[in-house]
Amino acid sequence: MTTDRSLRELAAERGLTVGAMIGPDSLRTESDHRRVLATEFDAVTPGSPLKMGPLRPSPDTYDFGDADTIVDFALANDMSVRGHTLVWHQQQPEWFETWNHSDERVREFLRDHIYTVAGRYRKKIDTWDVVNEAVADDDSLRETMWYDAMGEDYIANAFRWADEVTHADLYYNDYGGEAVNEKSDAIYDLLADLLERDVPIDGVGLQLHALFDRPDPESIAENIERFQDLGLDVEITEMDVDFYEHDAPDDPLELQADYYREITEVCLETGCDGMTVAGVNDATSWLRYYENFPELFIGDPLLFDDWYEPKPAYEAVVETLDSY
Ligand code: XIL
Repeated sequence: MTTDRSLRELAAERGLTVGAMIGPDSLRTESDHRRVLATEFDAVTPGSPLKMGPLRPSPDTYDFGDADTIVDFALANDMSVRGHTLVWHQQQPEWFETWNHSDERVREFLRDHIYTVAGRYRKKIDTWDVVNEAVADDDSLRETMWYDAMGEDYIANAFRWADEVTHADLYYNDYGGEAVNEKSDAIYDLLADLLERDVPIDGVGLQLHALFDRPDPESIAENIERFQDLGLDVEITEMDVDFYEHDAPDDPLELQADYYREITEVCLETGCDGMTVAGVNDATSWLRYYENFPELFIGDPLLFDDWYEPKPAYEAVVETLDSY
């Protein structure tokens, strides 16, 4: 190790937020998880608890328990919270399937949801992923229940409603558009149009799940800069780096470290606002339990291993920050 200082301390000196997306269980049950999180990171993103499904067990009730566990821990440890996410097409309430709703009712429901959730955390959450993954894989707008009810206005509406109840930075967040490509072109056009219409949007989140490929760092830098030129903040919001199990390289931990290093350099060089990884330690990675993924990937995508020991990827990020 080149330094005794934590990731969090080094990043703060460079004006970069370093976050981890986490769930409530390991926070409640594992002291190592609490220790590493609070020592090494200065931001948290609740992975699931603020999504609509977990938050809305029935049409008229909210369950804030898991979200509060994470938010309270963050504030007690001088960390910021990224609220994730107000509008998405996945992890929706199961009762939606039998909900007899009109378009107007869907609109009211979303507005009330945003008022209630973003309003409740007004003093605690200073960044929100307002809309997640609105652009589909064919680069058109995804046809979600929100789109069906309101057309593309649902996006502008969501940002405007959030802006009415919170001073938080309001982000659009997506995957696949990290580098300059057709998807990021579509996201760029969408956000440029929203800004043109004075929709209150502050930033764009690039998820960066580097699982199926590792997008070219130079192209990511170019992409970040074009969003910054629109006046938007940019953050890496859910980074993890892994390899197909059936096609694993001989040295996955070294390749992984190289990519984390390159992305850290991109963040520093472009002045991106934050870098969040999709978990503290490998054992809690979503790749281990997400229904479409088990056995597809090695399952070791993060900075700390199953036993909370720092990996080469951690050393790479720390060295990059320390020497910048
Ligand atoms: C994942 C969470 O990490 C898991 O806990 C959950 O079971 C599934 O969702 N894109 C997103 C995230 O925006 O919300 C997803 O997170 C990963 C893909």
